[in-house]
Amino acid sequence: MAITYLPEKQLFRLDTKTSTYAFTVYKEGYLVHLYYGAKVPDTDLSYLMFRGWFDELSPRNPKVGERFFSTDIAPLEYSTNGAGDMRISALSVRGGAGDSVTDLRYVSHKITKGKPKLPGLPATYDDGSQAETLEVETVDAVTGVKAYLLYTVFEDYGVMTRSARIENGGSAPVTLERAYSACLDLPTMDRDMVHVYGRWAKENTTVRHPLQHGIQCVQSKRGMTGPNHNPFLALVDQDATEERGEAIGVNLVYSGNFALDVEVDTRGCPRLLAGINPTDFRWKLEPGESFTSPEAVLVYSQEGLGGMSRTFHHFYLDHLCPPQWAKKKRPLLINSWEAAFFDFDGDKLVAFAKEAKELGIEMLVMDDGWFGDRHDDFRALGDWTVNEEKLGGTLSQLVQRVNDLGLSFGIWYEPEMINPDSDLYRAHPDWAICAPGREKSLSRNQCVLDMTRKDVRDCIFQQMYDVISQANIAYIKWDCNRHISEAGSALLPPDRQGEFFHRYVLGVYDLMDRITKAFPHILLENCSSGGGRFDAGMLYYSPQIWASDCTDPIERLSIQFGASLCYPISSLGAHVSANPRTGLATKGRVALCGTFGYELDPRKLTEEERELVRGQVADYHKYYDLLHYGDFYRLTSPTEDPYLCRWQFVSPDKKEVLFTQVIMRQPPAVCQFQKLPGLDPDAWYRDEATGAVYSGALLMHAGLNLSAENEFVYGDGASLSIHLVAQDR
Ligand code: DGJ
Repeated sequence: MAITYLPEKQLFRLDTKTSTYAFTVYKEGYLVHLYYGAKVPDTDLSYLMFRGWFDELSPRNPKVGERFFSTDIAPLEYSTNGAGDMRISALSVRGGAGDSVTDLRYVSHKITKGKPKLPGLPATYDDGSQAETLEVETVDAVTGVKAYLLYTVFEDYGVMTRSARIENGGSAPVTLERAYSACLDLPTMDRDMVHVYGRWAKENTTVRHPLQHGIQCVQSKRGMTGPNHNPFLALVDQDATEERGEAIGVNLVYSGNFALDVEVDTRGCPRLLAGINPTDFRWKLEPGESFTSPEAVLVYSQEGLGGMSRTFHHFYLDHLCPPQWAKKKRPLLINSWEAAFFDFDGDKLVAFAKEAKELGIEMLVMDDGWFGDRHDDFRALGDWTVNEEKLGGTLSQLVQRVNDLGLSFGIWYEPEMINPDSDLYRAHPDWAICAPGREKSLSRNQCVLDMTRKDVRDCIFQQMYDVISQANIAYIKWDCNRHISEAGSALLPPDRQGEFFHRYVLGVYDLMDRITKAFPHILLENCSSGGGRFDAGMLYYSPQIWASDCTDPIERLSIQFGASLCYPISSLGAHVSANPRTGLATKGRVALCGTFGYELDPRKLTEEERELVRGQVADYHKYYDLLHYGDFYRLTSPTEDPYLCRWQFVSPDKKEVLFTQVIMRQPPAVCQFQKLPGLDPDAWYRDEATGAVYSGALLMHAGLNLSAENEFVYGDGASLSIHLVAQDR
């Protein structure tokens, strides 16, 4: 049993193979958090609830009658606003009386096998064989509002998920002003916060800093995830490394305005909240209505950030990505964007396909520019009809020509967007998002469609359906190239405009759900001006996401490493492009640390480059399982070490290792030895290139000696890979 309830102590324990999580029902029904950390056998954890000294100014419930108990001081399981707790709160409900005092107390609970779906939201899933779920019912006696706290434990992974369902059980309408998915009160602030930030073409720079008193947060209020911050955060021991120390990772399965907030109170106790950003969020609940928050995934590891990441990777492949794609080999594709931008026709695409076929590439993706009057980025978004003149025939004919060459065919869409210069806009100007009376801002010359509206979604779905169903389409790239401003919907009444942002995300999920259900065989790849919507919500629909519009392999190192903190390597869209900064070999090695593909004009490759590409294609197949299903180790950090970047993959049975090094800049002194963690110390590994044999123990403790290799492989952008295979001695 992963979840146990001890009635005599009114204590809940949620155990995974690595962790214990515990909370209790205290006097007057307060849910008090006790512990989240390494697995412990104890059942009496109640002493952990008292944190800090008496505080004269903190309100106390006279019915509890204890000097040491105040909701302002106690670790609370799901903190609420206005009932004594002055810290940031997970839930705030404005009731019929107009105040926002919210005070939840325990009512009941149930423990079930499996994991319930979250209505309208992507979430991790289970077939009933692995997960266990605890649902705790709580109520606010005055408004009648109930909060059902959902905890699902994936024992074998060291993973727990949380969300909350808020139900208006009263007789008057209420408004949610904040409704976070998870609240976690920790006892000490001696931790670092790790997260990623960035911008267009420079996503996922990793930052790490000690927790400070006060509130620190990573958030989006862009309507989408955005490249600026990612809905991921880790709290780690201050001395935690990649492979050692405690790490708690939190990731939201959500693609809209998010918030990961940490408040460290005056006693040095951190509170972490994860959920929908309360800025610009209001949600009205009529009596009987309910609201479900998105899911927060919590990973606990004692094997440092690396252990945390590997848990996320395996867990997301097994329980989040579309099951028909998670473990299915993906096609090796070539994309037309950097090869041609808008300047293509059917013949050029067929010429690409012909060359690509000879190189061993398996799919051609026709990017932006195939529809309506789309010759540049000023027009036609929303007009999803095939430009047959440009393609030199119907889509079906073009796809057939490509299929005849032996390649499958993929197509680009940007379903959420509309250009003012489009037939759709001329017919429905009110379908573009705009708050009443405001002027619409443009970004990349486009507006965002009001995805809260079913008529809008129906129209886009039908347009997409009509095109996709007329040809043999095997892949869709779903792009999204601007964020939301002047937010508001023509259809929402004033008292529901605060629901706009979340309804937008629900609308996008609905459309994605309809498309993926209508065409279950199609591989969906997400994209948002590169990695601007790289999140777990999108991974639920698409097992891969284009990681960045920057295809420079040196820049890509920090972009892909940052994403790998939380997201599987097999989800990181990475292509070899014509970018001039490094040679083709390094581009290939970096793209292999992702989905791998090409984004260049194959006709322009020299014979020497073609040979290299053939070798890369062979490597893609040779290492596919190792790279997609193996364990990933970040050996150095491209954001901390300005010179060298090293990583390795280890197969699950530890019989195969692929080590890679890229020289970003000439180091003043090279550390030639690189210890390889995660190997089998008792195994013997043969270097495939040199034939040298080392024990796993030696490679783990003394390391690879790279002196010889580094004598020959040097210069900015140079790289090498070493393939080690376990053998009998
Ligand atoms: C932004 C994407 O990131 C690119 O890969 C490309 O698809 C363009 N949009 C097309 O407009």
